[in-house]
Amino acid sequence: MEKFAEQTLQEFEGWEEFFNKPVDEKVQNFVRHNRIYDIIYAQQFDRSFLDYLCSLADSIRLLAKTKVGQSKLRHLLPHKRAMLYFVQPSTRTFLSFQNACHILGLTTSEIRGTSTSSEVKGESPEDTIRTFASYVDLIISRHPEAGFAEKTAWVLNQTEHPVPVLNGGSGPDQHPTQALLDIYTLEREFRTIGGLDGKKIAMVGDLKRGRTVRSLSYLMKNYQDVEVVYVAPEVFKMKDDIKEFLSKHDIPFKETEDFESIMPEVDAIYMTRIQNEYGSDPTSEAETYPQFHLKTSHLSMIQTHCAILHPLPRRYEIDIRIDKDPRAAYWRQERCGMWIRAALISYIFGVDGEIMNELS
Ligand code: CP
Repeated sequence: MEKFAEQTLQEFEGWEEFFNKPVDEKVQNFVRHNRIYDIIYAQQFDRSFLDYLCSLADSIRLLAKTKVGQSKLRHLLPHKRAMLYFVQPSTRTFLSFQNACHILGLTTSEIRGTSTSSEVKGESPEDTIRTFASYVDLIISRHPEAGFAEKTAWVLNQTEHPVPVLNGGSGPDQHPTQALLDIYTLEREFRTIGGLDGKKIAMVGDLKRGRTVRSLSYLMKNYQDVEVVYVAPEVFKMKDDIKEFLSKHDIPFKETEDFESIMPEVDAIYMTRIQNEYGSDPTSEAETYPQFHLKTSHLSMIQTHCAILHPLPRRYEIDIRIDKDPRAAYWRQERCGMWIRAALISYIFGVDGEIMNELS
């Protein structure tokens, strides 16, 4: 596709000042009428919100088991329209959000690359997002740039016609709705053993450039007596800002390159792939770091209740023969994404009470 002009750069008065504030001070900007309005950072979620959303997702999936229930769900938001602006590749986040919208009756539009939008003519991303707000009631974005969702939500909130923005992944920075589905999966996997409180979670792989492990780490502050083990090669160690966050919130964590040594002691293993797309030459990163792969020989080393998660897509990190093991939770995890995103959208539009009442 031909590109006609370089992207227009726009300077927004007040943005730099806002951007440089601590997240704790910024979250209020994304709240309206005492409810979260834009979903930008994982730090926006507290324990009561997380518990409520998990129970809302359970109610939606229960209702969706019957034709009558599905019809009730579809009649909740048929008057609303959502825009899926996914200009970085995605399978799960895109499809789970799209299907979550359809479960609740929303209609959807999509742009899946800047080459098919007027950005090819040089339009700025901010004007592009503002244009969506002229047509739809909700914007869900996936973008290669860190902080993209934050900036566009902030810009829209200065206009006379804002709509909620949901961050479906912004560069190597944050993936807050992935963190929601990860929490929902962990709570479900540990349902018979007291939930996520008191559990030890290993996060393995490219922790430096993996936004899912960053967002999930932020959510650990909401759970009692959790411990985190970061397992990564030296080049992909978790960044200091996350480790400082855990220390500030008294969450014990340790780091190791010896994956096998910690396998027997953890309650969940959260695998991630090497994020080649953020390298200067992605195709040159041929190393797959096999010592950070989960192999069938490891299944006898992990606990009988240990949940194996992966945000997916996977490459070689998990042997496909592990898929059959009941502890392999990653396919259940991606399905959880659709239900928790449906719960989130119902909450954003304030129809969550109707869903909960249906089952009370
Ligand atoms: N987990 C995740 O974000 O997957 P996709 O990149 O396929 O959306």
